[in-house]
Amino acid sequence: MHITHPELEKYILNAMPERDDVLKEMEELARQKGFPIIGPMCGTFLRQLALITGARNIFEMGSGFGYSAYWFAGGLKDAGKIICTDGSEKNKNRAMQYLKRGGFDGMVEFYVGYAQEIIKQFDGPFDIILNDVDKEQYPEVFDLAVSRLKKGGIFITDNVLWGGDILDENPDEQSRGILEFNRKLFSSGDILSSIIPIRDGLGMAVKL
Ligand SMILES: C[S@@+](CC[C@H](N)C(=O)[O-])C[C@H]1O[C@@H](n2cnc3c(N)ncnc32)[C@H](O)[C@@H]1O
Repeated sequence: MHITHPELEKYILNAMPERDDVLKEMEELARQKGFPIIGPMCGTFLRQLALITGARNIFEMGSGFGYSAYWFAGGLKDAGKIICTDGSEKNKNRAMQYLKRGGFDGMVEFYVGYAQEIIKQFDGPFDIILNDVDKEQYPEVFDLAVSRLKKGGIFITDNVLWGGDILDENPDEQSRGILEFNRKLFSSGDILSSIIPIRDGLGMAVKL
């Protein structure tokens, strides 16, 4: 199921400015390998969030080869920092090469391992936390992330509409993870949440 009508999505993508060479290369790698990146519409939105909030410290759970971090980095204030996490050393190496080419490597610390364990080593509070780990793990991420956000900080989660699969009569493990996560998103008194229906659905929560 398309969240945005395919013709409208095509229109938006065509209307958007061309990305720089590094982002274009990352998008091509993702296409070739079938690797799930957030894409340019959500990427632009992440950069806007960094700019609007004047973010100085961002934590990413599930950074892949650095595509989302690259977008954040372009909106970060001087002396800002992004902590990236991913289970793969290869993704880390690729990410650091791309980020270096964009001039962003100095603002990124990249940890290889399980993001939910890595975040426990940090108290925060963070200005922005991005959640893009495996979908069945989403409920486990919720408290770990929300408790480390500053007041007014933003918790942003990709794929919360999961191509419509969350509506299946018998949702699979990933869809069940997202459904439980979305329930938490809208029932917690600590945050104010919405689902922004761009690409695969972005969950956005502001810490109260
Ligand atoms: C959907 S990809 C997105 C990458 C990145 N956010 C982007 O948009 O370019 C998610 C990445 O997180 C990794 N991942 C999934 N669950 C994880 C976890 N619990 N801890 C660390 N990495 C994880 C995956 O292996 C994959 O590389």
